[in-house]
This record gives sequence, structure tokens and C-alpha cells, in this order.
Amino acid sequence: VFRASGLTTLPSILLIGPSDSGKTSLLTLFERGTNASTHTSQAPISVECSLPVSNTAGSDKYRSAHDPTNQAHKKFLLIDTPGHGKLRHHALDNLTNPQNLKGLIFIVDAATLSAGDEGLRQTADYLHDTLLILQKRMAGNKALKALKDLPVLIAANKMDLFTALPAALVKSTLESEITKVRVSRSKGLLDSGIGMDEGADDEKDDWLGEVGSQDFKFYQMEEFDVTVEVIGGNVTGGEGPTVEKWWSWISERL
Ligand code: GTP
Ligand code: MG
Repeated sequence: VFRASGLTTLPSILLIGPSDSGKTSLLTLFERGTNASTHTSQAPISVECSLPVSNTAGSDKYRSAHDPTNQAHKKFLLIDTPGHGKLRHHALDNLTNPQNLKGLIFIVDAATLSAGDEGLRQTADYLHDTLLILQKRMAGNKALKALKDLPVLIAANKMDLFTALPAALVKSTLESEITKVRVSRSKGLLDSGIGMDEGADDEKDDWLGEVGSQDFKFYQMEEFDVTVEVIGGNVTGGEGPTVEKWWSWISERL
């Protein structure tokens, strides 16, 4: 449920990613400071969060520690979206009509990304589509166009599980799976005849990353001012949450 307008002017961070990856768990932890059980989400929720005292917002970095305007508890809005395939329009609505959006956290379950795992295919599919929206934002509406740089954090969650891939492997595995998605999408367009009438340019527009490249790499998104970083962590399990690096990533964007 979106709350009244006053809050929407706060800087916001959007949580997106496939079902069961831990978005609502992360929201709960960041809002309350403790874990609580979650149910699969059916609607977006946005909550007001504060940076932990130990983190300084990027916009406050050059202030002296004694500057009274230095906000140790800088507030921001965290927006959770449902990951279910049929409910993704909620997340995509937030992307195409952003309210003071400062960054996007795409959460993946690092334990479902082994070769041949259905989770890998679904995750790569969703990530491909999300990045393509960001890439094409210059052709989109004004609000989205206004976002000059768009930082994306791929939060490789569930690192407490022994089946979880380490962050570097999450990165390369997703890159090669997105390479496959990219090829199959462009074949699909050719087969259906879409883009044939409008000429080859349209087809190029739906190609993620560098045109003519064999392999997709996240750095190819930099050309579109989208910076992608992959950082591992866990919300639950293990010896407690490991989310400090994700907090730092957020604080640098506020
Ligand atoms: P949707 O609402 O369906 O899109 O899913 P979601 O991404 O919001 O997932 P949710 O936060 O509800 O978490 C799904 C399950 O993963 C829950 O059972 C969580 O307890 C579990 N989970 C979340 N984070 C972790 C983690 O770091 N480690 C482990 N082992 N389990 C986790
Ligand atoms: Mg959820």
C-alpha cells in the first residue's frame, strides 16, 4: 500500500527480483532491525527506513562530522514489489514512473542459480527485462528519462546456504544466462515478424547491451549510464544477517 504523498518525495530504493528471493525479508529487516516471517507478496509495500548511524549518506559525505545538518539517520523510502510472474507489472510501474528513485536492488536467491536450475532461467529472464527497461529509458517518459545515472545492485542473497554460489559466480552465471535470453528474444522477434516492417533499427533497440557483442556483460550497461554491481549477503540464517555491504551501497546513493 502506498502511503500519502508527503513520503513520496523521500529518496527511494526499489526492491525487485523473482519470487522467494528475499525482498520482503530484507524490507522487514531494514525497517525493524530484526527478522520476521514473510508470505509471498501480492502487492507492493513501501516503508520509511533510516540509515544506520554507522552509515553516512553520499550527499553528506563532504560535510564535517560536527556539521549539525549532517543527518546520521537519513531517511529513505524502501519499496518492495511482488516477484510472481503475473504481478511484475507493479515493479515495472515503479520503474517507468519513478518517484525520486535513487537505485534499484535486484535480489536473487544465490542457491537457485546452478546450471540447469529453473530458478536461473527465471532470474535471468526477469533481470534481462528489467535492464532493458532501464536501457530504453531515454525513449520512455519524462520521469524515467530524468534519471541520468541508474545504479543497480544485484544482491546475491542466501549466502548462508552451502548451495549458494559466491558473488563472483553469481555475476558470471547471470551474464551467460542473459546472453542466452538475449539471443532467444531476438530470434523470437524475427520469427514473429515484429520489427521487420519498421526496419532493423527497432530490433537493435530491443537488444540488451552492446550491439554485435557475442557475450552479454554487465559493464555493457555503463554505456546507458546503468552501473551494475553484484554483492553477496544473507538476510536470515547463518550467524545472523550479513547486510552491511548492501547498507553501504544504499547510503552512497542517498
Ligand atoms: P515474493 O513476495 O513472492 O516475491 O518473495 P520475496 O522475494 O518477498 O521472498 P521473502 O522475503 O518472502 O522470502 C522467501 C523465503 O526465503 C522466506 O522463507 C525467507 O525466510 C527466506 N529467506 C530470505 N532471505 C534468506 C536468507 O538470507 N537465507 C535463507 N536461508 N533464507 C532466506
Ligand atoms: Mg515478498
